[in-house]
Amino acid sequence: MASIDRLRQLPGQTPMMKHTMLPVMLLLAGQCVAGDLTGNWVVRNPRADGTIQKTYFDLKQDGPRIGGHIRVTQFYYAIIESTGGPAGFTLTGAMKDGNSERRVRYEGKLEGDELHLATRRRPEAPLTQMVAHRAPAAEGAYPARIPLPRIHQVRANGLAKTPPMGWNSWNKFAGRIDDATVRQIADAMAGNGMKAAGYVYINIDDTWEGERDAQGNISSNRKFPDMKALADYVHGKDLKIGIYSSPGPDTCAGYEGSYGHEQQDARTFAAWGIDYLKYDWCGARNLYTDGEMQAVYQKMGDALLASSRRILYSLCQYGRADVWKWALAVGGNTWRTAGDIRDTWESMARIGFSQNELAPWAGPGHWNDPDMLEIGNGGMSDTEYGTHMSLWAILAAPLLAGNDLRDMTAATLEILTNREVISVNQDRAGKQGTRILQSGDQEIWVRLLADGSRAVALFNRGPQPARIAFRWPDLGMKRAPRRARDLWAHADVALTGPDYSADVPAHGVKLLRVWR
Ligand code: GLA
Repeated sequence: MASIDRLRQLPGQTPMMKHTMLPVMLLLAGQCVAGDLTGNWVVRNPRADGTIQKTYFDLKQDGPRIGGHIRVTQFYYAIIESTGGPAGFTLTGAMKDGNSERRVRYEGKLEGDELHLATRRRPEAPLTQMVAHRAPAAEGAYPARIPLPRIHQVRANGLAKTPPMGWNSWNKFAGRIDDATVRQIADAMAGNGMKAAGYVYINIDDTWEGERDAQGNISSNRKFPDMKALADYVHGKDLKIGIYSSPGPDTCAGYEGSYGHEQQDARTFAAWGIDYLKYDWCGARNLYTDGEMQAVYQKMGDALLASSRRILYSLCQYGRADVWKWALAVGGNTWRTAGDIRDTWESMARIGFSQNELAPWAGPGHWNDPDMLEIGNGGMSDTEYGTHMSLWAILAAPLLAGNDLRDMTAATLEILTNREVISVNQDRAGKQGTRILQSGDQEIWVRLLADGSRAVALFNRGPQPARIAFRWPDLGMKRAPRRARDLWAHADVALTGPDYSADVPAHGVKLLRVWR
C-alpha cells in the first residue's frame, strides 16, 4: 500500500497538483479517508551510532474506539483504552511481563498526514514529543513465534572452573561505549595490576549492534567499526573479549537481538573471536512465557557449542523461573539471580544478602550471578564497596568490574585487586558461602575453602558501628582456629579463647580466613 509520505514525494509535482491529486489517490489506493487514524505509523529516532530507534503505532479506528498495538522498540503493548479521535486522543497500552504488567500512555492528534504524539517516560517526567509518519502495513509487525526445541541436556563447555573475572561496559557507560573506550579499558586492565590479579574478560554490553544484511548476518554499528580487529586487539593484550545479545528480536536498549538467527550469530561471534556471551531475555518476553525460558536458552547453548570457539555462556533473565535449577542443563556458566544492580548501598545489599538459599546450585563451571560490580562508580563509600567485594567473594560470584578502569582512585583499585579476597572468590572447591548467624543488622557468613580453611565474613548492615561477637562452635568449629588472618588488613589476628569479637563500621565488614 502506498503511504501518504511517498505520495507526497512524487517527483515533478507542483504543490497545486499534490493537493488536487491526494484525496483521489488515497481513495484509489483503498486507504483510509481523511481524518482516520487507522494505519501503521512509525516514529524514527536516528541515533548517533547510525541505527534508528523505532516506535510503531498500528492503529484501528472503529467509531469512538481506537484499537491496535504500540511497539516501543522491544515492548509490544496492546491498546486497552482510548479516548477521542483524530482531533485529539489518548491511548493506553498494556503488556504482560512475567508476573507483572507494563503500561504506556500517549496523547496525540492527527495534523495533516502526521501523527503528533506525546508521552511521559516516567509519571513525573516531562512530556516527550514525537511525530509519526505512515509506514507500510507489515513494517515493525512482531515476528511470528518460532516453535521451541524439545528440552535436552547441553554438554558442558568446560569453561569457568572458577567464577569469571573481568569488566563489563554497562554499569558505567551504558549506551556510551565504543571501540576506542574498550581498547583503553583493555590497556588499563593489562597495565594497572588487574590482569595480574586475575581479571581477564573485557565484555561489551548492549548498544554495539548494527543492522543485519540481506543474508541475515549481524554487523556492529558505527561505534564499533571492526569487531574482529577489536577482538584481535584485546587478545593481543592476553585478555579475552565478551559480547551481548538477546534471544528476542530486540535487546533491552532496543537494538537487534538474535531471534531466529541464533546459530548464525554464534558463528559470527566465533568468527570475530568472541570468548563470552551475555544473553539477555528482554525482547523475548513478548514471544515466550517464563516457563519457556529453558528451551529458549537451550537454543543458544547448542549454537555456541556448535560454533568454532569455546564461548562462556552467561544467562541474563533476572533470576526468573528458578533459573539456577536449569541453567546448567542449557550449557550456562553463569546466570543472573536478580534484577539490575544500581550503585547504591540499598540495591547492592538487597541483592547480595538475598543469595543464601541459592548456594547449593553453584559449583565449578556454573555460578550464581548477583550482577556486575559497582565498585568505584561513586554511589557508595569505600567501606561499602569493601563490603560489596567481600560479599561477592563469599558468594563465589563473577567479579566483573563495572567502573571506568582508566580513571579510578587508589582505594578503588586496591579493593578490586585485593588478592587475599580474590583468592576466596576464586577458590577451586567452588563452594558458595552461606549465612550462619544473623542478629538484627549483623550477619556472619562462612565459605568453606579447598585447603580446609574457611572465609568468615562479619557484616554490619546497620547504619551505626557495631561490635559483632560469636563463639567458634557457633560456626561449627569445636575450638578456636589455629590461625586467623584479616583479609583487608593483610595481617594475622591474635585469637584468645572460644570467643571472637570485632568492631565493624556501619555498612562495613570484617573478613577473616581461618585455619583449624
Ligand atoms: C538489562 C540487563 C543489564 C544490561 C541492560 C542492557 O537491563 O540486566 O545488565 O545488560 O539490559 O540493555
